[in-house]
Amino acid sequence: MNALPFFQNIKNALTAGGTGGLTWHLHASLSQKKWQFTRDEIHKELMKGLKITAPQKIQLSKPEQSQVETIKSKELVLIGASAGWMMSTPWLEEFSLINAYDIDPLSSVLFHINHGKALKRKGIKVKFHTLDAIHHLDQVLSSHPNAYIWFDNVLGQHRIRLRNADLANAQLKIIQLRLKGRVWGSVHDLYSGPSTLKEHLGVQEYPKSVSVVRLDNNTENQARVLYNSQEMGLEKGRQTFLKELGASRANGAWLDHETSNLFPVKTQLTWTGWAFKPGYYHCLEMGWVTPTLK
Ligand SMILES: C[S@@+](CC[C@H](N)C(=O)[O-])C[C@H]1O[C@@H](n2cnc3c(N)ncnc32)[C@H](O)[C@@H]1O
Repeated sequence: MNALPFFQNIKNALTAGGTGGLTWHLHASLSQKKWQFTRDEIHKELMKGLKITAPQKIQLSKPEQSQVETIKSKELVLIGASAGWMMSTPWLEEFSLINAYDIDPLSSVLFHINHGKALKRKGIKVKFHTLDAIHHLDQVLSSHPNAYIWFDNVLGQHRIRLRNADLANAQLKIIQLRLKGRVWGSVHDLYSGPSTLKEHLGVQEYPKSVSVVRLDNNTENQARVLYNSQEMGLEKGRQTFLKELGASRANGAWLDHETSNLFPVKTQLTWTGWAFKPGYYHCLEMGWVTPTLK
């Protein structure tokens, strides 16, 4: 008998390589109120995705009717679902079938506790898969050819799990190529680090979210962005928002999660704050990619 998968499952249930597991579930369950702002911002972004229709080529029966029609997919693939601590139930209710992927074997039970009742009431089927869905992305995509794909705060964890920033950066850069032709979106960490923002009467301080569109694929020092519709260098936009999030030189450097090239240029993005723990914030990036029909 090969005991490796068993021990791997135990490890993933405990920490999921520093990206989840029991420690995440405990922390997330106790932080719901402090994270409400971020959860609301994620909800708004998720709802934007529903306006995108998944284009698929459909051959109609009569040749003269043979044309490209667009239909709306009602199937969702959720990667890094965990227990859906930051996930919006009303958004999940928009789908008829949800295939959720996570390496953490505890996720399934906890996801059902958090969202199962509402989804069951609406007759929405949820299938859970304990799998490394980034390593097996091609298999996941081909198993659900018509589904929306949502990376649920998992891609920014890739460098933490791999413990290798260069390798994570290289793998993440090609994710958009592997997803070509699909409706997909992601919320992920861009940066994280020590913050001077405070809590007042149990309510965490948050700056307003900003809209960002990257204008080219140049390196970070040279790339241009529209930051709240104003053109500037990516580096300046980054420094402006991290300052709003309470970053300061005196407090120490922020971690780069190697995700700044994930989305294709011109994607409409939102940057928002996440008060992960006292004195430590994350800058989250989120957005949707609309496929083009060829
Ligand atoms: C920050 S948590 C996600 C939080 C989740 N979206 C929520 O709202 O509760 C990251 C999750 O990604 C999972 N994960 C990390 N790498 C993964 C991979 N390669 N494939 C599938 N799941 C992964 C972890 O087990 C963890 O549950």
